[in-house]
Amino acid sequence: MRVLVSGATGFMGRSISRHVLGAGHTVRAMSRSAEKAARKFEALPEAAAAVETGRLEFVSADVTEPASLLAAVEGVDVVIQCAQFPGAPVENARRGLTYMQVDRGGTLNLLTAISTVYRAQTAGPGMTRFPDGAPRFFYLSGVTVSQHATETWNRAKWQAESAIKGSGLEWAVVRSSWAFGPGDDSLNRILGFSDFLPFVPVFGDGTELLTPVFVEDVGRLFARLVDDPEASRDATLPLGGPEPISMNEFVGTALEVMGRRRPILHVPKPLGKIPAAVLQFLPGRPLSPGAVDFTSQGGVADLGPLLERFPDFKTTPTRAALESYLGESHERSTAGGRK
Ligand SMILES: NC(=O)c1ccc[n+]([C@@H]2O[C@H](COP(=O)([O-])OP(=O)(O)OC[C@H]3O[C@@H](n4cnc5c(N)ncnc54)[C@H](OP(=O)(O)O)[C@@H]3O)[C@@H](O)[C@H]2O)c1
Repeated sequence: MRVLVSGATGFMGRSISRHVLGAGHTVRAMSRSAEKAARKFEALPEAAAAVETGRLEFVSADVTEPASLLAAVEGVDVVIQCAQFPGAPVENARRGLTYMQVDRGGTLNLLTAISTVYRAQTAGPGMTRFPDGAPRFFYLSGVTVSQHATETWNRAKWQAESAIKGSGLEWAVVRSSWAFGPGDDSLNRILGFSDFLPFVPVFGDGTELLTPVFVEDVGRLFARLVDDPEASRDATLPLGGPEPISMNEFVGTALEVMGRRRPILHVPKPLGKIPAAVLQFLPGRPLSPGAVDFTSQGGVADLGPLLERFPDFKTTPTRAALESYLGESHERSTAGGRK
């Protein structure tokens, strides 16, 4: 199958692309710059051979520019949408870098492009159906998304999910927990403090429960979705690691695996938001009050729906996943590099 991955150069998109390629499919890796995408994929051992045999191709398109998406979605069997604005979760409304504009709006633009290219027929008021050959649509959502969640990232993703589910396409939505692995921008950032501080700061009291998921498991699941149109059809699948743990336990385990002894310094969220209110206006926008909330939220995946569809799918235990890349001989930023 030919699979368009929107956000292929990102942390999640790289893993998804690798696993989909590994399952024998053709990947059309989408980025705002095909040249940049090709350079990013050069680092992957399997990429060169795939490019040579035509199983890995690159396309330039921007989810906020509808016209650019028409060529990207042409001739594919599956579209995987995992594009996110640079700097997330710190929004920049002035530059249009928000969950609403890039995540929700970008998803709507992809659906519109599919509708244009595959000429959806109107079957009745508010109903759309696509001719055979229209792609299936997979979306990378978040574990905290629900109808009643009020935060902007949850609202944007809820609305994107709703549009996908009402599109008339076959779809699957993966509601991923916090993902970690080589080259991630979140856990690695927290652990990075231990390079130069005698403690590691965490917003809040760190007791919220999480089911952090290894990024390899995210990629593996999407490859299974591509492979299995029956099991993946119209499925909403929360995804997370096998056991809920607190943020304190997660960061503590990672430090232990790295062989570092550092206490966790709990920064009360209201206190963290004071510098964040200023930092959001500095170049690079390192933090914002919203990002303090985003990074300290809990989120536990109910794996029931996933196991119903894919009974043999197991996610990696947290410690084993951390040990696979954080040991003393490993680097936090390998496998694709930091963004
Ligand atoms: N990371 C997590 O823990 C996690 C957990 C749950 C859900 N998710 C969701 O997973 C998705 C991917 O997250 P991520 O962590 O992989 O993000 P990421 O590493 O920041 O990657 C973002 C990707 O989006 C692309 N992109 C940015 N702006 C774009 C635009 N206007 N048009 C087209 N592509 C654009 C980037 O490509 P170029 O720069 O090459 O254009 C990049 O490939 C997001 O929807 C996120 O909410 C992530």
